[in-house]
Amino acid sequence: MRPKVLVVGSSNTDMVVQMPRLPAPGETVLGGEFVVAAGGKGANQAVAAARLGAEVTFVARIGTDMLGDQSLQNFAADGLVTEYIVRDSSKPSGVALSMVGGDGENMIAVASGANGQLGPADVGQAKKAITEASVMLLQLEIPMPAVLYAVEAASEVELTVILNPAPAQVLDEHLLERITVLTPNATETEILTGILPTDEEGAARAAERLLEKGVTTVVITLGEKGAFYAGENGAGLVPGRAVEAIDTTAAGDAFNGALAVALASGRDLEESVDFANSAAAISVTRVGAQPSLPRLEELGAGSWELGAGN
Ligand code: RIB
Repeated sequence: MRPKVLVVGSSNTDMVVQMPRLPAPGETVLGGEFVVAAGGKGANQAVAAARLGAEVTFVARIGTDMLGDQSLQNFAADGLVTEYIVRDSSKPSGVALSMVGGDGENMIAVASGANGQLGPADVGQAKKAITEASVMLLQLEIPMPAVLYAVEAASEVELTVILNPAPAQVLDEHLLERITVLTPNATETEILTGILPTDEEGAARAAERLLEKGVTTVVITLGEKGAFYAGENGAGLVPGRAVEAIDTTAAGDAFNGALAVALASGRDLEESVDFANSAAAISVTRVGAQPSLPRLEELGAGSWELGAGN
């Protein structure tokens, strides 16, 4: 039986220009390649989890336009359960304008469109899937009422909730207390704690602050350095893989999707973080969000027996 992961989140089409370096404000930089790629933090994480072997239900809103049609086709090709995806005729599908510099770093502007209409009722219609899932995976590219409703619904059935707090914003303690695993990157950690973690010691201090706010487990992603985890069963840095990054877009999404699959399979936290590090490392060696997300075979994970978890 495959582990069941429920993702509530955004879907975008990414319009990407690859360039030798990112422009400064007001500057024009020539020489870019243009790529259109499926994206959106929610969709990326859902696709990442599906490619790594989970049965994934995705709750989202997309427009009734051509971009929405294309997204649905992509989801079907990746085997997502799409019955809770709402087609919204009042807004266009989400679009992200992305610039990727020569060092793989990016700048992204998002026009949320239909993603901004996702509400509690959309999550509520997926109650059956919430009851059946082993892990719920959330990000912050959808309205906060939908996130809060999803977290409440999950806590009613004691479902493990992973919240990837991206894009960064301040979160109140009522929400944090209901999160099983919070997965900020360094920037998001600084916004949540006032500490910018650049090494293991800084990550440990920041994680401690988040645990004090009521989160059960914290996993702080530190790029190529790996990820620092802390919770009731201990803490530690799980080193990342050394790879040459050409596009870091969706590295965090690859990480979160993989983490959800591993935890839903009943793996312990350290092993799950290591698995997630591997998925993120592969994703940065390829261009685009969903095109960069790896499949289970690529992780050298032949020995991984995916279980249905809890
Ligand atoms: O996390 C990467 C994603 O952020 C991109 O795919 C883009 O759509 C933005 O949502």
